[in-house]
Amino acid sequence: MTEAAESVEVVPLAESLGAEIRGVDLARVAGAHTMQSIKDALNRYSVLVFRGQHIAQQRQVDFAAQFGPLRTPPIYKYGVEGHHPGLHMVSNVLHNDRQIGLADAGVFWHSDAAYMERPVMYTFLYAVEVPQTDGRSLGDTCFASTAAAYDALTPEMKRRIDGLRAVQSLRHKYEKKIAAGVLKRGELTKEQQEKAPDRSQPMVRTHPVTGRKSLFISEGHTCGIVGIPDIEAKTLLSELCAFSTQPKFVYRHQWKVGDFVLWDNATTLHKATFDYKLPQRRLLYRCTVEGGPVF
Ligand SMILES: [Fe+2]
Repeated sequence: MTEAAESVEVVPLAESLGAEIRGVDLARVAGAHTMQSIKDALNRYSVLVFRGQHIAQQRQVDFAAQFGPLRTPPIYKYGVEGHHPGLHMVSNVLHNDRQIGLADAGVFWHSDAAYMERPVMYTFLYAVEVPQTDGRSLGDTCFASTAAAYDALTPEMKRRIDGLRAVQSLRHKYEKKIAAGVLKRGELTKEQQEKAPDRSQPMVRTHPVTGRKSLFISEGHTCGIVGIPDIEAKTLLSELCAFSTQPKFVYRHQWKVGDFVLWDNATTLHKATFDYKLPQRRLLYRCTVEGGPVF
């Protein structure tokens, strides 16, 4: 029996989040017991790392679909021909002078699609090409636990932000990337803006499965707080962003080819590291699962 043969080992990777899952071959369909072990670990550790995987693109899609409805990105198109439109590439590689994938994903700390009514719940990344220098991997991804950060807030701060709503904005993300000179996906069109207007979301969210509370703001997406003067809101947001991304709340993932990483956007922020450039190539396949409205 495939299911009985797999013994899932969960090895924590950092103080506040992240675990490596050993004993699971994602190329095979996991049994119910294995899937439950993976979901339990995800709820506890927020970021899961599976090393040394060899999976076909369709298998990534099928695995992700076991966590919820696969999401088709409404704004950008870097899909993989012949596959679900939700599977797309994150890459700095050019083909005929055109980007084959998202090349500027994760410049700033963020959780995926926080500005949508139903933000991304889970993100799945599979590393096919990893840039290297002197045998060391480049292009790390950092993850921060917004749940551990919320837990560590003072009672006064928890009372201060309780019930507040922050403005999550795709427009803000584009403006920040343009200001930093790193936008590589074309400017935001009116049509794209209409698909993702600025949206207020709770500053503290409750996890739909575990009930755990976490901070729901980020430097990449959050541009204000409803009912709070702009300067005061920006000061508070900066303070909370810095607080939630302290080293003790962060796991930094150094990629190897064959790594499959899955994370929960309801309890984490993430950010990429741009310390490589062509001819150093980076290629990851990405798909996401949609969550429900945030509460
Ligand atoms: Fe992201």
